[in-house]
Amino acid sequence: MRKPENQLTVIFGASGDLTKRKLIPDLFDLFVQNLLPDKYAVIGVSRTNYSNEIFRDIMKEGIKSFSRSKNSPDEMIDEFLRKLFYISINTSNPDEYDYLKTEIDKIDKITSNSGNYIFYLSTPPALYGIIPENLGLSGLNTSGNEKSWRRLIIEKPFGYDLKSAQELNHSIKKHFAEEQIYRIDHFLGKETVQNLLVTRFSNGIFEPLWNRNYINHIEITSAESVGIEGRGGYYEGSGALRDMLQNHLLQLAGLVAMEPPANFDPDSIRNETIKVFQSLRPLSDEDIRNNIIRGQYLSSHIKGNKVPGYREETGVSPDSRTETFVAMKFFVDNWRWGGVPFYIRTGKRMPTRVTEIVVHFKATPHKLFMNMSSGCSSCNQLVIRIQPDEGILLKFGMKVPGGGFNVQTVNMEFHYSDLSHEYMPSAYERLLLDCMNADSTLYIRGDAVEACWKFVDPVVAAWKNDNSIKMYGYPAGSWGPETADSLFDIAGITWRYPCKNLADNDLYCEL
Ligand code: BG6
Repeated sequence: MRKPENQLTVIFGASGDLTKRKLIPDLFDLFVQNLLPDKYAVIGVSRTNYSNEIFRDIMKEGIKSFSRSKNSPDEMIDEFLRKLFYISINTSNPDEYDYLKTEIDKIDKITSNSGNYIFYLSTPPALYGIIPENLGLSGLNTSGNEKSWRRLIIEKPFGYDLKSAQELNHSIKKHFAEEQIYRIDHFLGKETVQNLLVTRFSNGIFEPLWNRNYINHIEITSAESVGIEGRGGYYEGSGALRDMLQNHLLQLAGLVAMEPPANFDPDSIRNETIKVFQSLRPLSDEDIRNNIIRGQYLSSHIKGNKVPGYREETGVSPDSRTETFVAMKFFVDNWRWGGVPFYIRTGKRMPTRVTEIVVHFKATPHKLFMNMSSGCSSCNQLVIRIQPDEGILLKFGMKVPGGGFNVQTVNMEFHYSDLSHEYMPSAYERLLLDCMNADSTLYIRGDAVEACWKFVDPVVAAWKNDNSIKMYGYPAGSWGPETADSLFDIAGITWRYPCKNLADNDLYCEL
């Protein structure tokens, strides 16, 4: 990882949770690795009336609780905290931006003296249009010379449907060029997600098989054992489809399905993933009815403790129709993937926390050995574990020692934890550093966000307007509605259920 040139990071929404739990602790981790610029400052901006000292005290708590380097000596934490400043304004009010500009310039003069600023929007989404506009009106969106620059990082959710995402892109682009805009999807910052590109494009053995001729289907699961963690207000307006599938899971699908890029630069890569999103077969009414299952967790007992159902969570309506689980089958209509189904699912309050991509290869054309099962239950699988226990697992058939030719499926595994000497940066560490170095490869381009919304919009609309589309209940702590198995219409094939059979210890299990 490269040390960036001198600059400032200006965080809007600095009194919020993300700043304390993620941004500052992860910036501190970069500091400990000597990866922050030599001359650098972080400026927190929010309406709450803090002094620099109060802001630093609160961020110190954040570092001590959430940073991976939390056990660093106090002098080191204090040295980092001296780089933190705070400016209180009402960010919705354009009249307050002249003051903001003067204050940022003053801090820049005494710290980085660079004129290079990253503006990080960690605010409620309602401000994603307003703050860039105010930055534009006050002239903060441009440095006014060619030597220094301005960049803008925007948290998810980027819009809540296609129309709002288009409007947001349109309004931000009045003041910032696409090259200045960094839309975050923190899944892309995960080490194992990036490893997907390396697995595919640095190995001669996988790529020739990576197509409809050898792959039966692709499965992507992102299960969480937690519930909505007190975020009822946000989640009610979002649901699993918007919260996880429209962004994180489709991004993973994009990396699995993309063509090899011409070069390893941001535009070459993003030019390939957008083609995948544009090739997603539009979902018909019938697909929405038959190929998508939504569910909501019900009160149940997990490890002997009663957990509330979704409708009993704080901030959730007692007759809520918001989904906490979604499973979907879809197709990528292009030359490589013609006819290969993609299955993706995500849910809250599932038995374990696991995100994995499973590439299911086709069966051998002829069954030579007696006990090879029919269907595809013994087919080769490549499991790419995004989290936890990050790694890769290849399942293949081996002869059982002894008489006859009995076949048993065995695992060939690689665990990132085996590379104990390698430090695994967190997603935010990686993404923050990339933006500081002007590398947008792992950020989402505006056209990609819109293409993903275009794909899911009909589902949002159908679920909203058609009450006859079922919402299935599932007990908290289970793998979601059993009906989700019906998405597979091939005998003997269903989801991979990590941990369902606890003898199958190839994944970390919380149960
Ligand atoms: C966020 C969602 O984007 O991703 C959360 O809003 C979800 O609901 C989280 O819990 C999952 O991310 P991770 O990195 O914990 O798997």
